[in-house]
Amino acid sequence: MIYLITGGAGFIGSNYVNHLIASNQKVIILDSLTYAGNLKNISLHLNEDNILIPATQKRLSSIRIEAESASIDFDYDIIAEKKRLADKTACFHTKQIRMESLTDEVKHLLIKNALVFVYGNICDSDIVSELMQISDYVVNFAAETHVDRSILEPDMFIRTDMYGTYILLEAARKSENLKKFIHISTDEVYGVATDHSFTESDPINPRNPYSASKAAADRLVYAYNQTYRLPATIVRPSNNFGPCQYPEKLIPLMTIKAIRNEPLPVYGDGRQIRDWLYVKDTARALDCIIKKGNIGEVYNIAGRNERENIDIVHFILMQLDKPKTLIRHIDDRPGHDRRYSLDDTKICEELGFSHTGNFEDKMASTIQWYVDNQEWWQQIIDYDSEYKVFMQSLYGSKTKS
Ligand SMILES: NC(=O)c1ccc[n+]([C@@H]2O[C@H](COP(=O)([O-])OP(=O)(O)OC[C@H]3O[C@@H](n4cnc5c(N)ncnc54)[C@H](O)[C@@H]3O)[C@@H](O)[C@H]2O)c1
Repeated sequence: MIYLITGGAGFIGSNYVNHLIASNQKVIILDSLTYAGNLKNISLHLNEDNILIPATQKRLSSIRIEAESASIDFDYDIIAEKKRLADKTACFHTKQIRMESLTDEVKHLLIKNALVFVYGNICDSDIVSELMQISDYVVNFAAETHVDRSILEPDMFIRTDMYGTYILLEAARKSENLKKFIHISTDEVYGVATDHSFTESDPINPRNPYSASKAAADRLVYAYNQTYRLPATIVRPSNNFGPCQYPEKLIPLMTIKAIRNEPLPVYGDGRQIRDWLYVKDTARALDCIIKKGNIGEVYNIAGRNERENIDIVHFILMQLDKPKTLIRHIDDRPGHDRRYSLDDTKICEELGFSHTGNFEDKMASTIQWYVDNQEWWQQIIDYDSEYKVFMQSLYGSKTKS
């Protein structure tokens, strides 16, 4: 079976790719290597032949979306794009390829390789349709994923999370080979949990540009199942943690700051509640959904580990033997959702998924991963200019208390 994994160089995607390859599956990654995509996450499976750069990227210079009342031009800076690609692939051997040869080359490479990496954007219908034709399963992880970035600049979220999903769906419905389209949505589409944990039948009520664009994609996938009978299933995981998470999210950010003895910026009183799901458990749950999940349905994946953010921060400090005086409370995020909470009875009872291990051990091994892999994150925080600009724009001006 061939799996097309979009966003497979990102955090959850790369962990899932590593899991699939360990289970002897064949994988094609389609990833545009945004700031969050990192070839090092999958470097064990990369060699001199299997990173392909299709010539069609140039055509992305202008993507025009036409609707009845309006049209939008997406201008694309080719020079900046080329520089970014050169930086992102600097330590790797890449191969340019003509579009006409893409599918044959991928099929050929998959005979000897477990993985082929294709550099490309899910908004690029040419690449997407080529790869869709030769895939049995699609798992769509590709997305802009950081709530804070969506508040600063929603534009990319609408393009990738909504429009990109639409492009994938269009190609999927024309594919004769595709067995299942698995869409990775999020628990954030439900909005704030007040009196109960959300089940799959609860209404959605997203409250920030990230969760709203994810909710739009989630419902579009459902619409393609209902309207065109596309064999699609929607997955709503809670907050993931584990190795290879970009250092803007709570656990890697706080861990790295603590390792470096830097102040830890905590939003508001830090008492926002999230449910924490280990990324390797997400991989097991996805296997279960792909094998046994019903088409047209939604499955929550929870970790059953609801914790206040401040407790997570305290745990990290304790684990690294650092003082609580490193904590700095800063102004809260606008419209910060106070609590996310998921009920995952459905996947457990209907598909036989079970929870194993305990949260503290999984957290300890995650923190240890960041201690042991300083080169991985040092590269990002010291040399990635985009990271510096973002951290400055986000935390630079916040009031300290
Ligand atoms: N991280 C979490 O806690 C969490 C929780 C629930 C759901 N999710 C969802 O899971 C998915 C993966 O999340 P993550 O945390 O691994 O994200 P991430 O930000 O670490 O990685 C996203 C990946 O997608 C790629 N990408 C972005 N835009 C693209 C485009 N237009 N075309 C092709 N590739 C593109 C990036 O290069 C990167 O490799 C997302 O859909 C996210 O909404 C994440």
